[in-house]
Amino acid sequence: MANRCLCCHKPVETNERHHPRCLNRLFGTARRPEIPFGVADLPGIVTKAEGRMSISGVQAKVSIRLDKASGNIEPVVAGGTHILKPESDRFPEIPMNENLCMNMAEELGMRVPPHGLFAMSDGKLCYIIKRFDRADDGRKIPNETMFQIAGSTDKYIGSLEQVGKTIRAHATNVGLDMIDFFERALLCFLTGNGDMHLKNWALLGQGKDIALAPCYDLVSSRLYIEKEGDSALTINAKKNKLRRSDFEALAKNLRIDAKAAANIFDRLERAQDTLRGLIAQSELRADLRQELMSILGARYNRLYGKVER
Ligand SMILES: Nc1ncnc2c1ncn2[C@@H]1O[C@H](COP(=O)(O)OP(=O)(O)OP(=O)(O)O)[C@@H](O)[C@H]1O
Ligand SMILES: [Mg+2]
Repeated sequence: MANRCLCCHKPVETNERHHPRCLNRLFGTARRPEIPFGVADLPGIVTKAEGRMSISGVQAKVSIRLDKASGNIEPVVAGGTHILKPESDRFPEIPMNENLCMNMAEELGMRVPPHGLFAMSDGKLCYIIKRFDRADDGRKIPNETMFQIAGSTDKYIGSLEQVGKTIRAHATNVGLDMIDFFERALLCFLTGNGDMHLKNWALLGQGKDIALAPCYDLVSSRLYIEKEGDSALTINAKKNKLRRSDFEALAKNLRIDAKAAANIFDRLERAQDTLRGLIAQSELRADLRQELMSILGARYNRLYGKVER
């Protein structure tokens, strides 16, 4: 059986684990970078950079760049071009989970930065994503999360309708961003992603060029948390027991016309086999793959089944 690429999970014809084109998209070179540190080295690296790290969040992560001369990945305090997220003690195989969910979004045509899985020096896989808030010349592109924009103090307090309103107030191409936003909300429900809080939605750009930031931090949190809520933020005033009618109400609130909303529901309904195929080809271990298949099946039933509608 052919190897699968650790970025896109499609077959690779050689003995390598990454397509040259996937490496090229991510790093601007087809040479696979080396990561000269392991998970155990990370607390030191993270502490060293502390205070000046511009990426915040719960899970350990490091701002990195590729040193093109040596081919090594190096942690940096400033001037990072990528973000590295290692495995976690609490959530098994989270890098594989995130890479898979991002591939699902990409397969559905959503805006997704280049990303992939790479072995660290201890052999453990980490997830690397290219920063979308850096231009090719290294300049910073303004990126503000909904948490910052709302001046919020709790990232779990808020609604998707409120996020939609903020997109409407600032985005250059409101119609396009609303459709993207709604599609992402549906995909998150279908994949058991109950962690799309205010810091996981952002607006990118400035002046006359502002858009919903590309997808990031997509994971199936339900895979680890049995009692995980349906949504981190309310939809139609609910975080749980969400039904198709709640998403229809959301679409209406976002001023997506009924026909366009119906098309989006149909498109995602037809995507079930594709999503199952991606789970099957992912790097998640067998029991987690199986569990995610059943989460997906249950969510599809809730959104599209005859009974629950
Ligand atoms: N590809 C990217 N380009 C630029 N900024 C990013 C990118 N990915 C994430 N970020 C920023 O870094 C922050 C943390 O990243 P991310 O959400 O992936 O980490 P996390 O630890 O899983 O977060 P949390 O657990 O708080 O949800 C995000 O809120 C976002 O502002
Ligand atoms: Mg996050």
